[in-house]
Amino acid sequence: MINNIKLDKFRDIETPFYYYDLDILRCTLDLVKKESELAGYKVHYAVKANANPRILKIISSYGFGADCVSWNEISCAISAGFKPSEIVFAGVGKTDKDISAALRDNIFCFNCESMPEIEVIDQLASRQNKTARIALRINPYIEAHTHKYITTGIEESKFGINTWEIEEVVKRVSSFNNVKLIGMHFHIGSQITLMSVFKSLCTRINELQEWFTSRSIPLEIINVGGGLGIDYENPEKGPRFQEYFSLLNEFIDVLPGQILHLEPGRSIIGQCGSLISRVLFIKNGSNTMFAIIDAGMTDLIRPALYQAHHKIENLTSKGNIYRYDVVGPVCESADTFGKFIELPETHRGDIIAIRSAGAYGEAMASRYNMRDLAKSVFSDDL
Ligand code: LLP
Repeated sequence: MINNIKLDKFRDIETPFYYYDLDILRCTLDLVKKESELAGYKVHYAVKANANPRILKIISSYGFGADCVSWNEISCAISAGFKPSEIVFAGVGKTDKDISAALRDNIFCFNCESMPEIEVIDQLASRQNKTARIALRINPYIEAHTHKYITTGIEESKFGINTWEIEEVVKRVSSFNNVKLIGMHFHIGSQITLMSVFKSLCTRINELQEWFTSRSIPLEIINVGGGLGIDYENPEKGPRFQEYFSLLNEFIDVLPGQILHLEPGRSIIGQCGSLISRVLFIKNGSNTMFAIIDAGMTDLIRPALYQAHHKIENLTSKGNIYRYDVVGPVCESADTFGKFIELPETHRGDIIAIRSAGAYGEAMASRYNMRDLAKSVFSDDL
């Protein structure tokens, strides 16, 4: 909730900026901690969703691990207090430099996506005289029913190892001296709102578990990745963690001694962030009125890239309702946050909030048009 006290403070701050409500973040983290401890699951926060140092520090203080996709992310996570022994490294194209640095830092596990990648990890680990723990990221061929750009576990996906390759990969891995297979990893997509998708994943995981068990190959961890969606229409609503955790609990056969790992990103950080902007101009189009704001696709690319819907609010006007196309200043027609958005009569200088922008907002910002990066503002400081 953006209340009037905060709004008064917003008037003095240069826009656009990211506003993080840390009470919402802490409330979400309390719930995830409680639910994961009850179930005995280990949570690794997906750093790619938001790597703001202050946010990382708060998340690490809850004792969670980190899911990283580059050594830069690993390094930021360690600086923010995450323990290297609780960091996993994912990604379909890890560089030699990043793999070597991660090995030097003794991270917990590499989530591996192909045989050639495992070969390189084995070679680089042998140079450091180490054994790298690896999990196989397996493509389970499950349609996530989300935007196609963030669907990652279907036949044409570049991610993961095909099920028909597992036998060969496991055989080769057992002949290597410097890698040790410790588990299976999955991540089938992001912003998944249908619980039945996760149920299908559980069924697939159980089938694969049987495959490993029947060959007496022990696995310490099963990592189900991230993906739990949030309600962009209702920013005040928290993610459906309880439902998600009880579904995993009910449908995955976790074997004795095994630990279930999760990698939530958006569900942790999405609802606590808003992009705050000012209206520069109101301009008439032939069929619409444009509200041109000072935030653009460089600050939040999700609407332009995924046609994503973020709730847009005018925080300062209480006038009659009109419809506006809310657009940014960048030289691209895709720089549009929403079309025909109902807002109270809007004027130059009004403050606009684009809600549910905590995940993949600041993290995906660019400097196109040589625009400044939006600063971050935290509720605790206002
Ligand atoms: N684990 C892995 C291996 C991942 O690739 C991702 C996200 C996550 C965990 C976290 O997923 P989450 O819980 O946040 O859904 N930029 C897009 C989202 C890309 C997600 C990439 N991978 C967006 O703005 O919707």
